Amino acid sequence: MAMRTKARDMAGQAASGGASSPVAVLVIHGPNLNLLGEREPEIYGRTRLADIDKELKRLGRELEMKVETFQSNSEGGIVDRIQKARGKCEVLILNPGAYTHTSVAIRDAIQAVNIPVIEVHLSNVYRREPFRHHSTIADIAHGRIMGFGAESYSLALRAARTMAEESRRRSG
Ligand code: DQA
Repeated sequence: MAMRTKARDMAGQAASGGASSPVAVLVIHGPNLNLLGEREPEIYGRTRLADIDKELKRLGRELEMKVETFQSNSEGGIVDRIQKARGKCEVLILNPGAYTHTSVAIRDAIQAVNIPVIEVHLSNVYRREPFRHHSTIADIAHGRIMGFGAESYSLALRAARTMAEESRRRSG
């Protein structure tokens, strides 16, 4: 059984056991995103991380998805959480924060677990300093959403649902 199909089935069983089980999504926020709302609000907006997570869970219920959220300031913490998601989640929504621009370990973890990733950023990194233009995961991400502030995450969640449904349809 392909890993993605297995992940779907395991996630589905965990959620309800039914054929139309909720799409299981894990949202990971990287370093300094715990300070959202206070941190450079002119760039990242005034919405706090707790409010973003709350909205994602609300939207998840509306879209019949199972949404888990996680934040870590450490690269190892993010790698551990990605590994833990293996076989349990269908789509990963990931804002690696500054690790976007440097982390081979996070890239390797994504490839190891074989879960499709949507890369998310609050800001449009291409309107910012050149060092933010490189992402170690851009070429392995299913898609990238950036520049819409907190709404980038909601857009990603809607995209995750479409992706998972297409993948379920493909695997019958
Ligand atoms: C960010 C962009 C990164 O360059 C930065 O280091 C962050 C946040 C964003 O969401 O816009 O911490 O990922």
